[in-house]
Amino acid sequence: MSLEKKDDFDHKGWMKEKDLTPVETTFLTALIWLDTRFRIVDYLEILETLYYRINLQMPKSHTEQYNLDNKFWYWYPLYTLGLFSTLAYIVAAISGALLGFYYAPSTAESGDATVAYEALRYIMTELQFGFMLRSIHRWAAQVMVAAVFLHMLRVYFTGAYKEPRELNWLLGIVLISLTMVFGYTGYLLTWDQLAFWAGQIGVEMSLSIPLAGEWVAQLLFGGFTLTQATLQRMYILHVFLLPFVVTTLIAIHIGIVWVQGIAEPH
Ligand code: HEM
Repeated sequence: MSLEKKDDFDHKGWMKEKDLTPVETTFLTALIWLDTRFRIVDYLEILETLYYRINLQMPKSHTEQYNLDNKFWYWYPLYTLGLFSTLAYIVAAISGALLGFYYAPSTAESGDATVAYEALRYIMTELQFGFMLRSIHRWAAQVMVAAVFLHMLRVYFTGAYKEPRELNWLLGIVLISLTMVFGYTGYLLTWDQLAFWAGQIGVEMSLSIPLAGEWVAQLLFGGFTLTQATLQRMYILHVFLLPFVVTTLIAIHIGIVWVQGIAEPH
């Protein structure tokens, strides 16, 4: 918008329309339309007040407290590992959703293999760019595990887990664990020899838990041997429960970083 002059306003004090660019007019029209129906401006103001109230109570970082010009640490490249983990997660989620169009979690026989294995054979050898889609999904998953681990190391070595960021560290522990559960449940979906024996190890590990072992094996694997129930549980965990939980936790994790700001090295 150009610098405001007296004759830019009409007799009621409203800015004359000629001064608005088409983008501004579209934005304002949409905002007014939504505001008339959902009072969104009121709610945005409440959120803004809340944000400043919370933010004012946060301990200020060294550069903020002393108003130093040198914001060097905000540009520290290792601070992007969290973002890198998020990006890998988004790529894995999109490619996984596309793979879901062609995969079926069934142990029923199909030729000399199972339906699940056959679906993967189809994706790899017949579906146009199917091999690429599957590779993108596997690579994104591996990159995510590596990025999350490196992100955790950087948080540890810069001391960013210390007060007031303890809760985000604990949330991070939950996130790295769930990232590994994501990897494990996905690994079993191929239902080939590697998957089958990895599943068997999972059952044995669950059974080795004192007292609750049998119950855990039953809950996670649907029994003590690998059956259709096992594959179906891994599938629902991998494509429904985990995406829902992990997406929510990542949003809270990043929300906390947004409110607290990035820590400088302690
Ligand atoms: C799915 C996994 C994860 C995602 C997507 C994620 C994402 C992020 C992002 C985007 C940031 C801000 C930028 C940065 O500092 O890199 C961040 C900060 C942080 N993360 Fe994570 N993170 C994950 C896992 C973890 C783990 C495993 C831990 C530690 C156990 C952790 C602890 C923290 C802490 C304490 C901060 C604040 C750091 C600071 O203020 O300097 N996060 N995370």
